[in-house]
Formats: sequence, C-alpha cells, structure tokens
Amino acid sequence: MTATLTVCETCNFAPDTKRGPDGLSGGEVLCGLVEQAAEAVASVATRRHACLMGCDHHCNVGLSAPGKITYVMGSFAPEAEAAEALVAFAELYDASETGQVPYRQWPQGVKGHFVSRVPPLAADES
Ligand code: FES
Repeated sequence: MTATLTVCETCNFAPDTKRGPDGLSGGEVLCGLVEQAAEAVASVATRRHACLMGCDHHCNVGLSAPGKITYVMGSFAPEAEAAEALVAFAELYDASETGQVPYRQWPQGVKGHFVSRVPPLAADES
C-alpha cells in the first residue's frame, strides 16, 4: 500500500505572507520540496490540491491511505527540512497497520504541526 501526502499548493508562505521572495506561494514551494523528498520513496505518493480549507494555518498537508487514520498537519515552513520530516513520517505511517505512529518515532519536524485526525470508515460505513 502507499501513503499519500496531499499538499495544499495555494497556502500562504508564512502566517501573513502569501508569497515568498521568489513570488511563489508557500504551498507551491512546499509541494515542490515534498515531491523532491518523496521521489525515491516507493511507499509515499504525493499530490497537489488547491486549498484544504485549513487557511488559518499556512502550508497545510494531509496524509491518508485506504483503511487508515487520516491526519491533517499545518504551519510548516516551506523548507526542505519540513518536507523531509513529512516524507519520513509518511513512511512510518505506511508501515503502520492503522496509520498510527508511536510518538517516540515521530520525526522532530512534524511535532507541533498536527491539526486534526479522522478515523477510517469501518467496512460497514463505506
Ligand atoms: S489555501 Fe491552503 S488550506 Fe486554504
């Protein structure tokens, strides 16, 4: 199975700043960095999406897979370190049967960035 990181491509660069010095939104920058970090990781797929409706935070990212808990994270700096932490967490998520990853295994770069989690639908709910 594959874990999918859904990266908002329209998010602000920083809390009150839409675009970075190069004219790109924070989401555009983070999308590119996450795609680059996941390029050689077979268990992690990426996709871009416009607005995940979490605009109170900048640089929002969802993590999901069929039958697993879904996480939404945000307030990332659009930097390589954040992208690498997201991909590392997605690898651990993929390796977990439920998607839950013990806190002690969390990459430092995702700590403090969780916004919400949604449990998977049970077989009789879908
Ligand atoms: S613009 Fe990214 S969540 Fe709304």
